[in-house]
Amino acid sequence: NPLDFSGVWRFRRLLPFAPDDQIVTIGEGQTILQQSDPVGKYVGMDAGRLHLQYEGLNPSGSFKDNGMTAASTHARMVGAKIAACASTGNTSASLAIYASTTGLFRVVVFVGSGKIAFGKLSQALDYGATTIQIRGDFDDALKQVRAVCAEGGIYLCNSVNPFRLEGQKTIMYRVLEGLGWEVPDWIVVPGGNLGNSSAFGKAFIELKKLGLIDRIPRLAVINAAGANTLHELYEHKGLRWNDGRPDQSLIDSFYTDMDERNRRAQTLASAIEINRPVNLKKCLRALDACDGVVREVSDAEILDAKAHVGAGGFGCEPASGASVAGARLLRKQGIIAPGDRVVCILTGHQLKDPDVTVGYHAAESNERLAEKLAGGGVVERPFSN
Ligand code: F0G
Repeated sequence: NPLDFSGVWRFRRLLPFAPDDQIVTIGEGQTILQQSDPVGKYVGMDAGRLHLQYEGLNPSGSFKDNGMTAASTHARMVGAKIAACASTGNTSASLAIYASTTGLFRVVVFVGSGKIAFGKLSQALDYGATTIQIRGDFDDALKQVRAVCAEGGIYLCNSVNPFRLEGQKTIMYRVLEGLGWEVPDWIVVPGGNLGNSSAFGKAFIELKKLGLIDRIPRLAVINAAGANTLHELYEHKGLRWNDGRPDQSLIDSFYTDMDERNRRAQTLASAIEINRPVNLKKCLRALDACDGVVREVSDAEILDAKAHVGAGGFGCEPASGASVAGARLLRKQGIIAPGDRVVCILTGHQLKDPDVTVGYHAAESNERLAEKLAGGGVVERPFSN
């Protein structure tokens, strides 16, 4: 069965919403769990304990394809002719590739002004999506696209779409498979709109209920410091799932305060530059089920971690570096032990955002150059920037 070649649909009995002949697949989910001692050493782990789940190997280069194959399937089931999303780049690239390869629907994407890495934007354009740049950032774009979809009967493919999350559960199935169904101690994932973390929690709750695992790993969700709503609410204000009734007044007053100060998300990890995560409550449920923690890391920590992944792993985009930076922080804080088995999710391909990568290394070499000049050292090669 060709569905068994999809890293998502070979698990279709665990996401049983579509008949086989309706399933839309482009061979997503052929991803790799890589054990990396160099990155493990950087994080502070014992040898053999750190694993990187590299989702950059998906057809559009990010984990989004795990969810988009499921959303596209549902869109086909309901006969959608147009699908839309707001995006920091990867969701739009993913939706656009499903539309261009299957011809099932047309795609409209909304992106914030200057808020999207060119690798991702170029994908949406090449795949033929109608791409609309709005005045504002991702949070504004999502608000607008939700309104447009509701008014125009357009199929919405952001992670508010529950079918997306069904597909993203399979990332955890593949991690478990890669570990021979040994449950790791920690899953560490970057947090933006909080779709992944929500999906992972749901996957573990269900697997435990089905008796396929006997315990649930701990979940660490890592925000960029400049886009840290979850960290603020969970770690500082004590917001919890609370049996399905999280304190809404806490959430409301947080957002009111944010609006009054006109506080905008800001991080070089543009994929997770999000201040109003739509899956906040679902993520609280995941954190509850997985005895979770939330941390924030600076852009400098993210880029440093990303460079170490490049030097000792397959590489990743900036947002993905947050998971490694977060694991390192939790190791330093003694919350992750050196002998724990830790899986960091690398959500996107290294080539998604070359500008940030080149900028980082150019700044590094300029610093080294300045040091050499200050010390009167010989410079072998002039640096053009
Ligand atoms: N990493 C990458 C590479 C992403 O593109 C995103 C989200 C995340 C992490 C955060 O994942 O939303 O499940 O918490 N990107 C979205 C987009 C928002 O539009 O491409 P999350």
